[in-house]
Amino acid sequence: MTTKTMTLINDETGEQIKLDVLQPTMGPPTIDVRPLYKKTGFFTFDPGYMSTASCKSDITYMDGETGILEYRGYPIEELAEHSSYLETCYLLFHGELPTAEQLEEFEGSVKKRSMVHEALKNFYNGFRRDGHPMAIMMGVSGALSAFYHDHMNIHDEKDRETAMLRLVAKMPTIAAWCYRHAKGLPFMYPKSSLSYSENFLYMMFGVPTTPYVANPKHVKALDVIMILHADHEQNASTSTVRLSGSSEANPFAAVSAGVATLWGPAHGGANEAVIRMLQDIIDSGEPLQTFIDRAKDKDDRFRLMGFGHRVYKAYDPRARIIREICHEVLAELPENSPHKAMLETAMKLEEVALSDDYFKSRNLYPNVDFYSGVIFLAMDIPLNMFTVMFAMARTIGWISQWNEMIGEEESRIGRPRQLYTGEATRKYTAMKAR
Ligand code: SDX
Repeated sequence: MTTKTMTLINDETGEQIKLDVLQPTMGPPTIDVRPLYKKTGFFTFDPGYMSTASCKSDITYMDGETGILEYRGYPIEELAEHSSYLETCYLLFHGELPTAEQLEEFEGSVKKRSMVHEALKNFYNGFRRDGHPMAIMMGVSGALSAFYHDHMNIHDEKDRETAMLRLVAKMPTIAAWCYRHAKGLPFMYPKSSLSYSENFLYMMFGVPTTPYVANPKHVKALDVIMILHADHEQNASTSTVRLSGSSEANPFAAVSAGVATLWGPAHGGANEAVIRMLQDIIDSGEPLQTFIDRAKDKDDRFRLMGFGHRVYKAYDPRARIIREICHEVLAELPENSPHKAMLETAMKLEEVALSDDYFKSRNLYPNVDFYSGVIFLAMDIPLNMFTVMFAMARTIGWISQWNEMIGEEESRIGRPRQLYTGEATRKYTAMKAR
């Protein structure tokens, strides 16, 4: 039996209002509160959106209770095993897996757009060499809006697809050049002969003087990690892209706002914070329990980074896959590799935490960020580039969700209201009376 309506009763006046219940394909039904204010003069109150569906979407489905993640209905485990990042990009944006011809055309469309305007290189020189690469990524991705604005009609489906192709094609180039700028190395131009993830590693680590061939295990690992990071329903950065895009702002500017949001350690910045935490634990020589106790101490701001999730109250399915990739990538390293010690520490920390009632009772499990950094380190990707990797992978999610929103008939600007708790109306106080 599916609930069709919910009745709200004002206990003061006995007044009743019947609200429609909107049924999903999967997941919780939603109460349609759109008429609430007009009919009752009441707002709903939900800071952090703990119980609020901000939109309807066909793109990604998550079940936090059982740890399910699906892109357009396909389980993430199957995409990680059988798909490629570019095939997943096609799926997320267009809604169906491509035929061989469609995929070949899509890969060609991306490859031919992987260069950026030469003038874009000048933006890097404005940043200090030690500037955080996410600051550069945010600035340079936003700068794309200066190159693609006048001739773009966001209400035209083809123009929206071109914006997606440009972003998917250019973000790896922009991301790799953040690293090159920091290292004072020449910018490596993309190579059409290389696959997407191989090309990124080439632009990161290639040098003009000698041929560079990426480690095939690293190429495969990176491609799967990017599939796992591609989209995640209405997370903070995606919600930012939707909200900024809802004003009909330039999509490159909206994606830049998504980069800014992802940077926070409570969100995509956690992958960098996890490694700093693991390194602190190793350097301290303290028993793991010391850090578990600190994470539980309400008077201590310390949290187990890479643990917990707003939606997942089970093991993040992406973390499970990434943990397996850790073993594959690190297997090549010598036994005394510091990266192996880091992985060992992470796995022990997970074991101790998951046997502690504080974490079990709050359903706090490792999330996507807990193990990803260990792999990036093993691939010689520096700590401050981890969230840039996340942003590069999530770009397709952001622009697919933006496309879905702008393409909707009833698309309108997002404008939340508030519970005002400030001063009641009062008269201006003259200076001599203050
Ligand atoms: C990502 O939304 C997405 O989908 C995000 C993401 C994506 O793909 O887009 O999955 C990517 O951002 C993953 C999350 C990365 N962040 C971290 O790993 C940072 C550490 N985790 C936390 O800060 C926290 O778990 C959040 C931010 C992820 C979730 O926070 P919530 O949902 O607001 O939960 P909460 O802060 O209300 O915590 C509930 C309880 C609290 O204790 P009580 O008040 O009930 O006593 O759990 C505790 C929290 O103190 N808690 C933690 C903890 N996370 C939550 N305690 C110790 N260590 C932690 N990591």
